[in-house]
Amino acid sequence: MNIPRLHINVDHVATLRQARRGEFPCPIEWALAAEKAGAHGITCHLRKDRRHIQDADVIRLRGELQSTLNLELSLDTEMVALALKSGADAFCLVPEMRQEVTTEGGLDCKKEQARLRDVIPALTEEGGLVSLFVDPEPDQLDVARELGAPFVELHTGCYANRTGAAREQELERLMRASAHAQDIGLRVNAGHGLDYDNVSPVALMGGIEELNIGFAIVARAMFVGVAQAVEEMLELLPSQGEIDGRATSLRAAKN
Ligand code: PXP
Repeated sequence: MNIPRLHINVDHVATLRQARRGEFPCPIEWALAAEKAGAHGITCHLRKDRRHIQDADVIRLRGELQSTLNLELSLDTEMVALALKSGADAFCLVPEMRQEVTTEGGLDCKKEQARLRDVIPALTEEGGLVSLFVDPEPDQLDVARELGAPFVELHTGCYANRTGAAREQELERLMRASAHAQDIGLRVNAGHGLDYDNVSPVALMGGIEELNIGFAIVARAMFVGVAQAVEEMLELLPSQGEIDGRATSLRAAKN
């Protein structure tokens, strides 16, 4: 097991720009600064309503980033067609509702099976690694596996929104889901609602390859600048020694 990679979602830099429909602040410039500060990849979500990221941003991001670009998209036909032309390195399929403030729940893989059977191979053929953004539920993971997606991204929103014992329960639900996903051959990412206070237990769950974090880092950067906001998050990720220790205790618990 390795230390999870930090992928930073730049949607909210674009949200601020779109408040005035201008050129500034530029999500590409911000992403390049985040990359320079150590981000392992950049994520953006091209929404049907174009509330933050615009089509041209995706093209520029892919052209200018040195690291990987992960494009989040819904199963909408127009968005899939744009994704196929985007050159993104990875695609995360998410549910999308017009009125929501942010992505509110995981994709219902069972309900969307028919569409996923077309979209996953089409995106894979374009050379992108596909992940399905799902709630930490074993039945969703089983369907994701059956549909041939190499990755799932576990929705950490419920964990992030709870406190105390309820949060601990959500962490256990995430750990069980992560273990189940890996047992059936899925690779596992995680994200949504993660911040400087709640990220460490998720990063240390074991086997999480990538964390997708946006809002907290963009908001922190307003006070301390992009580089420091990214560095502070990187510092909260476990060391390789801690990850190895975790792997040993997980193996011992299994035997
Ligand atoms: N992962 C997915 C699939 C998302 O839709 C989002 C929000 O765009 C995130 C991660 C990042 O969430 P946050 O901005 O709360 O860190």
